[in-house]
Amino acid sequence: MTRDRDNAAAQPSQGGMETVVLKWTEDNAGREAMRHAAELLKKGRLVAFPTETVYGLGADALNADAVARIYAAKGRPANNPVIVHVPDEASAAKLVGDWPSAAQLLAKRFWPGSLTLILPRASQVPDIVTAGGSTVALRVPAHPVALALLREAGTPIAAPSANRSTRLSPTTASHVMRSLRGRIDAILDGGPAVGGIESTVLDLSGPSACILRPGLISKAELEEVIGPVQDASRVVREGRKPMLSPGLMARHYSPHTPTECLEEGARERVESLKRDGRKVGLLCFGEPRAMPSATTQHAVLPADAGEAASGLYAALHDLDDAGLDLIVVEMPPKTAEWAAIRDRLRRAHSPGAELP
Ligand code: TXA
Ligand code: MG
Repeated sequence: MTRDRDNAAAQPSQGGMETVVLKWTEDNAGREAMRHAAELLKKGRLVAFPTETVYGLGADALNADAVARIYAAKGRPANNPVIVHVPDEASAAKLVGDWPSAAQLLAKRFWPGSLTLILPRASQVPDIVTAGGSTVALRVPAHPVALALLREAGTPIAAPSANRSTRLSPTTASHVMRSLRGRIDAILDGGPAVGGIESTVLDLSGPSACILRPGLISKAELEEVIGPVQDASRVVREGRKPMLSPGLMARHYSPHTPTECLEEGARERVESLKRDGRKVGLLCFGEPRAMPSATTQHAVLPADAGEAASGLYAALHDLDDAGLDLIVVEMPPKTAEWAAIRDRLRRAHSPGAELP
């Protein structure tokens, strides 16, 4: 087992506890790291681990004290429930009152994978997991390290994204370290999370299926399996229902640096602010329409939405670390394939994007 504190040494400690990095590798040392991570979870401790979407901050989902530590470490509001990760469909079905046919069809098609299903909970799920609500969110992650950890721990693992509340989600162990060092017991480092953005959250607890958070699995893919699906952001926007999930809060996934998302004129905005002596970075997608000047800090993500998702948070973390006054984002097209990325970017947009 390797305990890598190099990265930690460079970061200021925030919480007072020592956060160890357990490196997962495909050998005995890696298996020992995995066992150690599982032991910590069984003792009620907090362990961040990779999933195929982003890193999660895990705790034993059946231990209310352990889950309470997640809320404390993240600074997460008590009204925001957490997702429970399980190794397979049978384990999910044990945590709900009833496992309906829509859940069966979706699980067969998309699990393991980045789809979270919300259903009425069974009584053994602690209140704190569901924020006192009557439903529980369930997901079987597709990452081999996450699945191995779930099997080794032998208990469902509650895990929100492993970042401080409202901040950018982490796609590497070092992103987790930056956000939560000193607040959690360990990070199981299994390399970068390649999916890049969080799972699609689908509510199956009401009369019609409703997407609470768009993700890598699209509305069209879900509709192929279970027929018509509603879109919560539209339902809420049109005033047909109040807020359905605290995760739909407008401000979420934000860099520390003021961030401005523009449908048009991003390049011009960058150049004009630079003329005023501002340090401005640009995030754009696809072939740059006009290459930003060499002196502009910039990140160009691929023209393919899936590939762009994979690098999205890392690009935002890098720009956030570059000591800029402002990050300008040139928004990708308003098409269905970009819906999840546009959703995350809209939430990263700072109100007014005031310059300091
Ligand atoms: O990809 C992912 O989903 C990652 C990885 C770690 O699995 N997890 C993640 O968790 O993004 P978190 O806590 O950052 O986001 C979970 C979302 C939140 O928007 C939360 O409000 C919503 O799911 N949620 C959880 N349980 C819910 C419930 N019972 N009812 C409604 N919304 C729920
Ligand atoms: Mg999150």
